[in-house]
Amino acid sequence: MSTFEVIPTGRALGAEVIGLDLRRELDEYTVGRLRAAFLDHCVLFFRGQEISQADLVRFTRYFGNPVPHVRPQPDRPIEEIFVISNVTEDGKPIGALGSEGIPFHSDLSYLPEPGTVSLLYALEIPDEGGETMWANGYAAYEALDPDMQTRINGLSAVHRHPIDALNTPEPTTHPVVRTHPETGREVIYVSPHLTYRITGMEREVGQALLDELIAHATHSRFVWKHIWQVGDLVMWDNRCTMHRRTPFDDRQRRVMWRTQVFGAGTV
Ligand code: OGA
Ligand code: MN
Repeated sequence: MSTFEVIPTGRALGAEVIGLDLRRELDEYTVGRLRAAFLDHCVLFFRGQEISQADLVRFTRYFGNPVPHVRPQPDRPIEEIFVISNVTEDGKPIGALGSEGIPFHSDLSYLPEPGTVSLLYALEIPDEGGETMWANGYAAYEALDPDMQTRINGLSAVHRHPIDALNTPEPTTHPVVRTHPETGREVIYVSPHLTYRITGMEREVGQALLDELIAHATHSRFVWKHIWQVGDLVMWDNRCTMHRRTPFDDRQRRVMWRTQVFGAGTV
């Protein structure tokens, strides 16, 4: 049995897990405690890990079924591993997402069945920038005034990716207030990056409502920023959080391995 400590960030979400070596298999009791901590804190991070791609995939399996990322990436020795990087080799990018900032989003919300858990492991990081911020969707929903909660309960929104080729032929819609399948708690589920419009609402009224909800849900009191170190593994629950990335100097290198869990999973 492995012992570990969970140290909350003191912000709206996130906790550091101390005392686990993720090169090792974890026993059932430890995994159960980790899953519970994950549901409580929405984001967990582990520092100082020196793991292989196989270790990352094995660890990911404790939280559901890792699947190859929907975006194609050639030459993947382990197909569940997706590289996030701005680095190019022989003129070709070795990974996705470049060095630009990425607005707040919940992963793959442009799909009818979005990603549930995402994991990101840092191999190389820039001197500054390239930080990732998470926002707590539960806290944002709970802080709305009851009139606004009533107004948005039952609404749905169209989600779509700015790269049109990634979208499904039929528009993807999700409830504006989503119930987390495991905690039963309600969450605001709209984002500036991937939510396109509120369904069945006049365009301007819908846009004003979306803007208001997004400004509220991304307020700094619901947000925590992770400053990356090499060897960090961060895992987040897309069913109750959004995240964004700050830009960084493209002359610097940032290399991460990423895994993705789909479906209801086991957490
Ligand atoms: C992602 C993502 C942010 C980052 O992998 O889904 O949004 O910090 N990455 O690279
Ligand atoms: Mn993302």
